[in-house]
Amino acid sequence: MNKNNNVLFINDGLNRILEENVVSFHMPGHKNGKIYNKLKYTNILENLYKTDTTEIPGTDNLHSPEDIIKNSILKAQRVFNSGKTYYLINGSTCGIEAAIMAVCSPKDKLILSRDSHQSAVNGCILGDITPIYIKSQIDKYTNIQRGNLLEDVKSSISENKDARAILLTYPTYYGITFELEEMIKYAHDNGLIVIIDEAHGAHLGLSEKLPRTALECGADIVIQSTHKTLPAFTQSSMMHISEEAIETQRVDNDRIEKMLKMTETSSPSYILMQSLEIAVDIYEKYGKELMEELIDNINKFKLRIEKISEDIHRECTNKLENKNLEFFNIYNEDDLTKVFISSLEVGLTGYEFEEILRKEHNIQVELSNYSGALMITTIGNEKEDFEKLEKALVEIYKKSLLEERKKIEPVDYPYEIIPQMSLTPREAFYSRKKKNVKIEDAIGMICGENIVPYPPGVCMIAAGEIIPKEIMNYLKYCKQKGMEITGVKDSNFEYIQVIDSI
Ligand SMILES: Cc1ncc(COP(=O)(O)O)c(C=O)c1O
Repeated sequence: MNKNNNVLFINDGLNRILEENVVSFHMPGHKNGKIYNKLKYTNILENLYKTDTTEIPGTDNLHSPEDIIKNSILKAQRVFNSGKTYYLINGSTCGIEAAIMAVCSPKDKLILSRDSHQSAVNGCILGDITPIYIKSQIDKYTNIQRGNLLEDVKSSISENKDARAILLTYPTYYGITFELEEMIKYAHDNGLIVIIDEAHGAHLGLSEKLPRTALECGADIVIQSTHKTLPAFTQSSMMHISEEAIETQRVDNDRIEKMLKMTETSSPSYILMQSLEIAVDIYEKYGKELMEELIDNINKFKLRIEKISEDIHRECTNKLENKNLEFFNIYNEDDLTKVFISSLEVGLTGYEFEEILRKEHNIQVELSNYSGALMITTIGNEKEDFEKLEKALVEIYKKSLLEERKKIEPVDYPYEIIPQMSLTPREAFYSRKKKNVKIEDAIGMICGENIVPYPPGVCMIAAGEIIPKEIMNYLKYCKQKGMEITGVKDSNFEYIQVIDSI
């Protein structure tokens, strides 16, 4: 720690956050550990140092579990109704990469949604697999990812009869679901193995009011970030294989296990494994009741916001200065635990809205895009969290009025455009013929790196693809407005790596 010259270290940053007592509408799902205290799972918190162990007599081994880890996993398997479950200690990232490499061999084709997480593209790089992208839908006004259309999935499968597997993201980061069951049936009828990235849906089985789980829809391999939406520590995830996929030998468990040994650490954290076990226990014993409470809190919050909007609308007719603004709009469909609040009506981009919430109201959202901000709520959130959010929204609106802000028009997300692939992700990744060019000059060249707005961590242009003007213009504009772009060497996004020549 070096307080004199203001260099802050990790410890300082984390202590600051502790002091701020931030209201969490972001992951991890345990929401600053509040749920552990509430349900009296305090052992994990009190004995953190002592239970940080490695493989010694009595602690079993994640990569060949025979004792306590096996029992814990068997319980998870029963609770999540899977044929075989794996605890993942390097997040869903390692599970997605392992699943892709387990079902596909080098040069195989994998059909995947364009909104796939970067780990899916990385899985293709590692396994030398050729991605075939399916267009994913984005809402024009909110820029919310809406997943895939059945007709797009069907035509991609029909046009790629030689593909080995299909990978879809269900639900999307924003909680939107789609006709997954029909897609899976069509994929199976055409001999494909179905991998579902359910990173944002580990909690779906907790209520009839939520969409069906990917396993219920018939998926073969499902990867869930337990840490995102259930009370588990960051990085703790699970992979489930369906009973049917095992019985029909559509999925080879032995290959999955070999790939997990490659993508996962050989020293898995017992604290993370313990937190997975606790998440399963909470899910089974208290999950349904807490989920009912959460949905009730969200519904009441929405009703209060609706009432405020109506009152403001009524005032509008009398007061001239209000006519430039409306109140925030709430989007909450399919997975009701995801609450997107659009801020354009209040004269703020989502990036500005996120910053104001954090700096002036101690509220941390999960992510912002140009149009608004996404709240991830979980069974770890309390009624008071929603009350604080409501209060903040009213104050921000009043401030916007004083500042005489005006409604902002949405930006057009060029989701229709899937860049043409010139080199496979692996060929592009390993190419030594890369050079930096100014982004204005990069249009039409072969991209040398993955361009990934973060969050949501989806590649807008992958390495090996021809750089389209429309996507570049969108990225440039949003970057100026506050979007964070990862995957690129120049984080200022003035230069980009392209492939010099083939
Ligand atoms: C859709 C999706 N899949 C996979 C991942 C990776 O999950 P993890 O952080 O558990 O590795 C993320 C992370 O944000 C994601 O949004």
